[in-house]
Amino acid sequence: MSFPKDFVWGSATASYQIEGGYENGERGRTVWDDFCDRPGTILDGSNGSVACDHYHRYKEDVQHIKDIGFGAYRLSIAWARLLPEGTGKINEDGVRFYNNLIDELLEKGITPYITLFHWDLPYELFSKGGWQNPECVEWFAEYTELVAKLYGDRVKHFFTFNEPQCFIGLAHVLGIHAPGNIMSKRSVLTMAHNVLKAHGRSVQVLRALVPGAQIGIAPTSTPACPETNSEADINAAREAYFDVPEQENYMWSVSWWSDPIFFGQYPEAGLKLFEADLPDFKDEDFKLISEPIDFYGQNIYNGYTIKAGANAAYEAVKRPLGFPRTAINWPVVPESLYWGPKFLYERYKKPIFITENGQSGTDFISLDGKIHDTDRIDFTQRYLAELERGIADGTDVKGYFAWSLIDNFEWHSGYTERFGLIHVDYQTQKRTWKDSAHWMKEFLAK
Ligand code: NOJ
Repeated sequence: MSFPKDFVWGSATASYQIEGGYENGERGRTVWDDFCDRPGTILDGSNGSVACDHYHRYKEDVQHIKDIGFGAYRLSIAWARLLPEGTGKINEDGVRFYNNLIDELLEKGITPYITLFHWDLPYELFSKGGWQNPECVEWFAEYTELVAKLYGDRVKHFFTFNEPQCFIGLAHVLGIHAPGNIMSKRSVLTMAHNVLKAHGRSVQVLRALVPGAQIGIAPTSTPACPETNSEADINAAREAYFDVPEQENYMWSVSWWSDPIFFGQYPEAGLKLFEADLPDFKDEDFKLISEPIDFYGQNIYNGYTIKAGANAAYEAVKRPLGFPRTAINWPVVPESLYWGPKFLYERYKKPIFITENGQSGTDFISLDGKIHDTDRIDFTQRYLAELERGIADGTDVKGYFAWSLIDNFEWHSGYTERFGLIHVDYQTQKRTWKDSAHWMKEFLAK
């Protein structure tokens, strides 16, 4: 495979999923700590209190990043580790932890990409209404300012939010992610709007305080891929991808979360769908929300097939029986990494980072002491080939972050899903490279 010379290769993780460092009061309580305490929320009854104990083992983990050969690492900061109550009092141990982690990365020649918010909202802020409270915009600005002042001398790459479709949609539409309270459409749309405003404010703060900052956001999407290369199918897929359709998690759409950032307005389809429940959005909000950013992050794992419709603009194509799936039951759709970035780049015209891509597997240690995840190697090769094809066709993709560096706490699935290139034994915290980590090392060395 051949990628541009300056292409960024990294792996990604998130604070709540790997850090631990909670049991002895090392950080403030978050909505996820609280959610996990509610019976029946997490498949295996677990939580992220210890997770991969990365808080104590970060040096070893950075060494793994280095040894695999990644030049970049996407990490998230736990808001409640810096500000245990979300605002106000600063936790110096938390400040030190990220200082050490960042220095360790830089010493090893690895560029940190910081995600400011990967779902672990400080519990104190939730009890004040969380994203429902309009003050959240300034809470997030205060937290951003702190991060900028503490680490902006060494860190230049930032993502404001990770997958708002999940911490708003899965959390408040479906109730399966923290904090898990299902709310009315009007309330959910208000929260989503507040998050977009907080994004805009955060961009302003970073721009003002971090010289040379490169800023983006990292939503997710499930790209619609055309059944054939006919113009009609391609147009239909594009239309489906940016539509805001009635669906179980009505906050899933990528355009609802992105059009306001790039165009300063919500997509027509969504305004129509939500017509009866629309809060009173102020015109000036959109100026804040559309504060210019430098790149666009996308977490892409799978996609679906669309063809031109006989009676409608587009029609979904049924998957054949026995279609390939990963352990978490997500379909394997490599071309999603061709069409997703292509459609997004055409529409938003910003360089793209694939901020997450990877698969969950039934990975275990074999008799020979190794982990033979040939499926993950195959998955990665197929997806990267499609990404490469897209770049060759003119899509401006700047980098790729594998999800994930190590196995970790997979939210409501607990520790039952393994997404890592590196296996974690949660009894001993021993890290073991899977075959895919060895493959990645070879691939990156070429
Ligand atoms: C999306 C999320 O950002 C990440 O936290 C999660 O573990 C992976 N995708 C896999 O579901």
